[in-house]
Amino acid sequence: MLVVAPLREAGHQVKVVPTESALNFVGAPTWEALSGEPVSTSVWDNVDEVAHVRIGQTADLVVVAPATADLLGRATHGIANDLLTNVLLSTTAPVVMAPAMHTEMWLNAATVHNVSVLRRRGVHIMEPDSGRLTGTDSGPGRLPEPEAIAEFALAQVHDEGASLAGLRVAITTGGTREALDPVRYSGNRSSGKQGMALAEAARARGAKVELIMAATDVPAPTGVKVIKVESARDMQNAVANAYDGNDVIVMAAAVADFRSASYAETKIKKSHAAGEEESAPVIELVRNPDILAGLVKRRGSRTTPVLVGFAAETGDENGTILDYALAKLEHKGCDVIVANEVGEGTTFGQDSSTVHILVAGSDQPQRYGPAPKRESASAIWDVVEQLIPSKDAVESN
Ligand code: CTP
Repeated sequence: MLVVAPLREAGHQVKVVPTESALNFVGAPTWEALSGEPVSTSVWDNVDEVAHVRIGQTADLVVVAPATADLLGRATHGIANDLLTNVLLSTTAPVVMAPAMHTEMWLNAATVHNVSVLRRRGVHIMEPDSGRLTGTDSGPGRLPEPEAIAEFALAQVHDEGASLAGLRVAITTGGTREALDPVRYSGNRSSGKQGMALAEAARARGAKVELIMAATDVPAPTGVKVIKVESARDMQNAVANAYDGNDVIVMAAAVADFRSASYAETKIKKSHAAGEEESAPVIELVRNPDILAGLVKRRGSRTTPVLVGFAAETGDENGTILDYALAKLEHKGCDVIVANEVGEGTTFGQDSSTVHILVAGSDQPQRYGPAPKRESASAIWDVVEQLIPSKDAVESN
């Protein structure tokens, strides 16, 4: 209920559509006082104004808080048996749901299924908080704080003036992990911070962001769709699924070039047999697919999606960071390579980095930094958004 306040404080007009159950907790006059708007509760209110579709059609954003298990079920199946579910069926605005229910209900297979279906349809469903629920229960299922719901919700509204409004971008981030046995993996030191910063910056510019996230300790920004992956091959599948419909694909993840040739189904044990105390297994490696190269091949001569690769380079006696970045831009065949300067204590896990942004066909690389990754993310989008063909150009392509 208190979500109304931060939304109004942010300058938005809020129309409350309580369900019959919600009215058992808070009556219509209170909703009217909080929102400063008349409250409709039934499809039979203001029939002359066709309220059951008009509210959804005119909203810039629909927020369902709390979203009960029952509401999630009805929304999944397109049931429109009250005013709120009519609004959900008739709106084309972003829809945000903040679920709240007992832990058992949140974890029930039916709810898990409904949440996954709704997310696939593009509904933005927050993760509930964990903590004290009604009664003595405690666990995941608690309604997030009103300010958090409002912040998450407002992040979904596209500012028409935003430079990436109406565009969709997929960003990979984190470091892939290649399993050796059920308890071990080989991995890398990517923190995922750059990818997160790029996702946040793209969302702030109005893009719909799909974040394909390998191992990272950094939380995903709110308002982006997250797909979790582990290995390079998982990431390859997720990227392949994201290919259609995205205007830009940014490969910011550190993808393992190699994986173990075989996966041990059971834990690899030290041998204690006499004479074998000192022995160690030899792990044979095989190459992983090059995801970015695969994208370039799939795109062929088309101009979308714009493909952005990353490179972590040190430079050596055979070439500078820029030499290697340029060579990578050429042999990968993508549109942009962002080269991170790697040195002692720089780039990996740090909040700041120095990047070189190289665009195919241009001999003017841009050096940016050292700067916080948030700022370099913005500099990268400034370059990349210039390369996105207009929708009309793509359609006549
Ligand atoms: N990449 C990829 N698939 C891989 C390896 C890397 O898609 N198997 C992507 C990375 O996400 C990054 C770019 O390719 O955007 C460059 O990664 P990098 O590891 O620097 O390139 P490599 O071609 O593996 O070259 P190097 O020999 O320098 O490791």
